[in-house]
Amino acid sequence: MIEPEIAKDLFSNRTGLYVKQKIYGPFDHGLVRQGILLTEGSDWQRHRKVVSPAFNLDKLKVMAKRMGACTQSMVDGWKDQVVQANGQSKEIEMKREFQALAADIIASTAFSASSSVGKEIFEAQKELFQRTAMIDFVIPGGQYLPTRWNLDTWKLERKLRNRLKSIIEERLNSKDRNGSDSGYGEDLLGIMLGISESSKKQEDLKLSMDEIMDECKTFFFAGHETTANLLTWTMYLLSLYKEWQERLREAVMKECGMEIPVFFCLMNIEFDKGIACEVNMFLLEALRLYCPAIELYRTTTKDTKLGDLMIPKNTTVVIPMVMIHRNKKYWGKDADELNPLRLADGVSRAASHPNAFLAFSTGPRACIGQNFTMLEAKTVVAMILQRFSLSLSLSHEFKHAPMNELTLQPQFGLPILLSMAH
Ligand code: HEM
Repeated sequence: MIEPEIAKDLFSNRTGLYVKQKIYGPFDHGLVRQGILLTEGSDWQRHRKVVSPAFNLDKLKVMAKRMGACTQSMVDGWKDQVVQANGQSKEIEMKREFQALAADIIASTAFSASSSVGKEIFEAQKELFQRTAMIDFVIPGGQYLPTRWNLDTWKLERKLRNRLKSIIEERLNSKDRNGSDSGYGEDLLGIMLGISESSKKQEDLKLSMDEIMDECKTFFFAGHETTANLLTWTMYLLSLYKEWQERLREAVMKECGMEIPVFFCLMNIEFDKGIACEVNMFLLEALRLYCPAIELYRTTTKDTKLGDLMIPKNTTVVIPMVMIHRNKKYWGKDADELNPLRLADGVSRAASHPNAFLAFSTGPRACIGQNFTMLEAKTVVAMILQRFSLSLSLSHEFKHAPMNELTLQPQFGLPILLSMAH
């Protein structure tokens, strides 16, 4: 069993002793190969320098408004459905709704694109992933043969690539018409282009067209399912723990009434970092119990000692975050139960080891989008609680069945009954 101390050593090491696992399959089909998620060494440093500023607090402030607008359109749709149900509660399939919302938000904050463009990119990426994830045996060189399967996959890759290329080229051509400091726009793409394009002489800040395209795909790949799952599991827990649902609704109404809660959500990032507010600590507890990325992998580049074990070169070590998150040794007897108050003083003080919470990993390769995702999740949860009461729908004999399909998902979806909160 990997302990938090060993996980910390693995994730914090900066000497290149542990690298990300080389994965055959999804990533080899042009998904995020040259993006920040999978690069190593100086390449990764260059990507991280270009991408990091896009997640600064002042940039998030602009994005927060877009998150609010996308969520408003989702909750307006829900409200119409509840009204049409003549005051009866209305069943909504949450997993599907949050997948659409997360795609909409990434499309809007990353490319200022409409939800239909976001959906198009997301669907192409998802299908590409599903096709390549199906590969369970490999014939050497088989990926170059013009089989039906390869031809279809290449066609899909081309479609995704061309769509992203046209978005990037359009942006490069419209420089100075975007009204932002850099001239390329205030979304993730504009900020990245601003840094990369303005540093033509500074090679350590330059990204090629292919790298920028892979970075765009990375935002979808790393930020879409993870956030959708966080929201889905949060709704599951809120519908089970009604006292917490009431408590959070009260906190939201007290702070911001029916306003779009952008300022409230930002305040907690800015001033509260570790000391969690009500919604924040509930979300963190949801991440602890239903950690979207259930495990991570690192491969050794040399023979090394890890804890008491000698690990040979080229060995892949699994870090099972989901098990660390429920280990009673660190989280106490109630490790399997919901108790958001344990996170009242922030993640590093929640358990008996400061690194027992690893939903976003830790060290230099920790999630770059964690403030983005927490801001998004707080905005969405607050806007839902302002309007609706939630309870679990039993009409389909709902089965609680968490399943790992790249991220931790409810296998049979999450049907929730919505009624107006006031
Ligand atoms: C609940 C939501 C999220 C969770 C649980 C999550 C979790 C993680 C984890 C565990 C890692 C480390 C991966 C590894 O070391 O192999 C990671 C990395 C990363 N995440 Fe997230 N993530 C979330 C949302 C997002 C969002 C919204 C974005 C972007 C819009 C994002 C972008 C990234 C990127 C670019 C990396 C790679 C960082 C690097 O290697 O330097 N993530 N994330």
